[in-house]
Amino acid sequence: MKKSKEEEKLFFSGEYIEEHREEMQEFLMQYRAAIKEVSTKLDILDYEFKVKRKRNPIEYMKSRVKLPDSIIGKLRRKGLEESIDSARKNLNDIAGIRVVCSFVGDIYEIADMLKNQDDITLIQEKDYIKNPKPNGYRSLHMVLEVPIFFSDHVEPVRIEVQIRTIAMDFWASLEHKLYYKTGEGKSMHIKDELKECASIITETDMRMQNIQREVERLN
Ligand code: GTP
Ligand code: MG
Repeated sequence: MKKSKEEEKLFFSGEYIEEHREEMQEFLMQYRAAIKEVSTKLDILDYEFKVKRKRNPIEYMKSRVKLPDSIIGKLRRKGLEESIDSARKNLNDIAGIRVVCSFVGDIYEIADMLKNQDDITLIQEKDYIKNPKPNGYRSLHMVLEVPIFFSDHVEPVRIEVQIRTIAMDFWASLEHKLYYKTGEGKSMHIKDELKECASIITETDMRMQNIQREVERLN
């Protein structure tokens, strides 16, 4: 029986993953290690901030390692070779951490403190806060490289860090859900509404930031 496009996708990528199971596990282990490394750095920065300035700038963090199927799927979509080596070379978001901060200013403080650490290399930065996406999406994206120490070698591993406020995260999470419900061909009305919500949120973020500065002055 002829397979549908979707089934074929799963069939081919499944085959590669099947044949390279152990290699794939070792490969993904490096990204799990990178998440641990960078999460610990963020925990320490949050803790130090709390001790010195009496509040936590990080509300919460979420992390994930891409599943083998979606690694192969992304390589295929981009027309790249579908292999572990190609994934290591071409994909920057196999490991991802989302850092949700209280205030806009916290985003840049956390980002700068992280970038200034000696063992971290900044590979790429996209500031969708200063330059929001046309749909209204806002967040600070960084691709970092951290050295991971294994038993017999050191491996530089890349990780995508997205830093945003609670408000930006609220918008992005709901927009993401709605996007998958309506797909690419969203009506103009829906696009405008989402963008309008994004701009209300931007305004609110700025006002909350100002309130925070006022409170800090009063203390
Ligand atoms: P990818 O091929 O998806 O990695 O694109 P890119 O390399 O140009 O990355 P970019 O930094 O623009 O975005 C990567 C990630 O940011 C996505 O996987 C999402 O998690 C998030 N993101 C980017 N744009 C949007 C958006 O419009 N809406 C939402 N909800 N999330 C977004
Ligand atoms: Mg990306």
